[in-house]
Amino acid sequence: MSWTASILTLFPDMFPGPLGQSLAGRALENGTWNCDVRDLRAFGLGRHNAVDDTPFGGGAGMVMRPDVVEAALESVSRHDGAPCVYLTPRGRPLSQADIRRYVSGPGVALLCGRYEGVDERVLEERSIEQVSIGDYVLSGGETAALVLLDACVRLLPGVMGSAESGVEESFSDGLLEYPLYTRPAKWKGRAVPDILLSGNHAAIARWRREQSEKATRERRPDLWTAHLSHASRPSVHEGHSS
Ligand code: 6GU
Repeated sequence: MSWTASILTLFPDMFPGPLGQSLAGRALENGTWNCDVRDLRAFGLGRHNAVDDTPFGGGAGMVMRPDVVEAALESVSRHDGAPCVYLTPRGRPLSQADIRRYVSGPGVALLCGRYEGVDERVLEERSIEQVSIGDYVLSGGETAALVLLDACVRLLPGVMGSAESGVEESFSDGLLEYPLYTRPAKWKGRAVPDILLSGNHAAIARWRREQSEKATRERRPDLWTAHLSHASRPSVHEGHSS
């Protein structure tokens, strides 16, 4: 049985969307993963298939009903221990460690809510994880779900070409990637750093490490601090830290 993403959404036509293209699309076609989309409207109640109602306590917008969400969750094959994730700007930040955890299991169930949100009780009752993809507001959880799935699918066995593409990338050791260059060696008066043309592989590796550390320090002081405190042994370049 292949890795399965079960998606609960009011906009089923948004899936697989961009994940039907490129590497993820090929992996979908060859059965490396399944995209099992459920229309929440199909579980709506009454003549109008209502999925939401006004918030107790007042306020703007509508809230997704817990009974409707539960019925939709019950409909997805109760695959053994697949985590259920609700995409919401109220969630904790999604991390690469979360992605690795999702990929290591049978799949994920993704609940895409409208922005105003889902009744809190069903989230508690079903132990639903709440994750956000960043500090900005999207119009719905669907595009966040696509981001989460893209990050998962590329890690499934056989999806990315070589094993090394998975190791030396941003976040694998808590550092950002070093800058990349290709031909032409000189372009609009800008030369590629000499070291990259030197053929000295040890020196190139050292330079790339320095560049990774510099970029991380300058752009992501939060990651840099975490890197320093998690590093089991000191880096050769620690002397450069500002
Ligand atoms: Cl997961 N959903 C929505 N609606 N907005 C977001 C988000 C999720 N993560 C960041 N902004």
